[in-house]
Amino acid sequence: MHTLFVDDPEVGILIDQETSRLQNTINLIAAENHAPGSILTTQGSVFSMKAAEGYPNARFHAGCAHTDALERLAVNRCRELFGADHANVQPHSGVAANLSVYFAMLDIGDRVLSMKLSHGGHLSHGATASITSRCFNFSHYGVSPKTERIDYDAVASMAQERQPRMIVAGASSYPRLIDYARLAEIAAGIDAYFMVDMAHIAGLVAAKAIPSPVPHADFVTFTTYKTLMGGRGGVVLCKHPHAARIDRSVFPGCQGTPAMNMVAAKAVCFQRAGKPAFREIQRQTISNARCLAKELAAHGYRIVSDGTDNHIVLIDLCTKGLTGENAENQLEAAGLIVNRNPIPNDRQGPHNASGLRLGTPAITARGMKEAEVKQIATWIDTVLNNQGQQRVLEKVAHEIATLCNRFPVFRTDSCSS
Ligand SMILES: Cc1ncc(COP(=O)(O)O)c(C=O)c1O
Repeated sequence: MHTLFVDDPEVGILIDQETSRLQNTINLIAAENHAPGSILTTQGSVFSMKAAEGYPNARFHAGCAHTDALERLAVNRCRELFGADHANVQPHSGVAANLSVYFAMLDIGDRVLSMKLSHGGHLSHGATASITSRCFNFSHYGVSPKTERIDYDAVASMAQERQPRMIVAGASSYPRLIDYARLAEIAAGIDAYFMVDMAHIAGLVAAKAIPSPVPHADFVTFTTYKTLMGGRGGVVLCKHPHAARIDRSVFPGCQGTPAMNMVAAKAVCFQRAGKPAFREIQRQTISNARCLAKELAAHGYRIVSDGTDNHIVLIDLCTKGLTGENAENQLEAAGLIVNRNPIPNDRQGPHNASGLRLGTPAITARGMKEAEVKQIATWIDTVLNNQGQQRVLEKVAHEIATLCNRFPVFRTDSCSS
């Protein structure tokens, strides 16, 4: 940091400002987390300089002895953590991991069945704006209008009708458990591959706080920086018979040199995720989300699907006469960082949106529990009921700063036991 301030004070100051923003606000973005110092240090290590095209013992650059040992360590820890046959830890991101699976197993134009973006799926599951929809022929299942949970009978009949070569499960804003066994059965019935993108829930799965898709799916992809609390990056897990195709698809198919500093951080992340303290954080993340849903419901908000099984609480603001965009801006002004999100069958476009997606990973990483969550729900309600009232916003912002002081973002490593 000291040399950075000599080399480039402008960036140094921005890093300081961002650190202080993180410390002084409450982060309820479901896709984010607070990675510990050990991960951040590892990301900034000498491994960031190493060119290492290829895989251990089969590189296109010399000087890879330590790099090979590092990648093997990351792969072995990852396989053990998730009970997977094979792991590729090189994808730079979640989308890169998904592309690697598609391009490994599908031909251009092949049919794929995945969850609708507007019902909780992800862009890389064939949304119009994503390159995935230009390469493959996606159709989409959604949630039942009544239960707001995946309609598995509808998935089964769409699968029969469309005969896709792959079924994709997993989502960015689905607060409920997914029945992987049922989807695997549907895929097997039409001889399709079954892929699960568990980017959001990988930490909960690693901690065995919710069921794992690994026994059921041919391929499981995930990111390391959401519930898993690592640095940015992606991973592909697969069954033995697909290992060589997946590896070839990641490199040289979709990527060049791996970011070995990120692979190093993944190794640290997988080691932490095997610890009892990590498992406790993940269990608390779910308890906090359940508490948040209950409290907001008590304040009169409609909770999509009537609750949550994971770290996400999706609220419908229609009954309050608000849009997601408005609510997001007002809450940020008070120090509550959230994101607007479409709700299933939303009447607003994605830019306004009728919902808010709230997540509990980051507040739980700071050590917050139910008592703090109840207070946060009250602040959300106060801000949303007093939009534009500067004095109310300032009062809440002051109370939030006081709470944040009690819960430092950068604590001593909380998963050392
Ligand atoms: C389900 C899902 N898959 C993939 C991704 C993409 O990950 P990345 O932004 O690292 O490419 C996300 C990120 O939000 C996600 O929610």
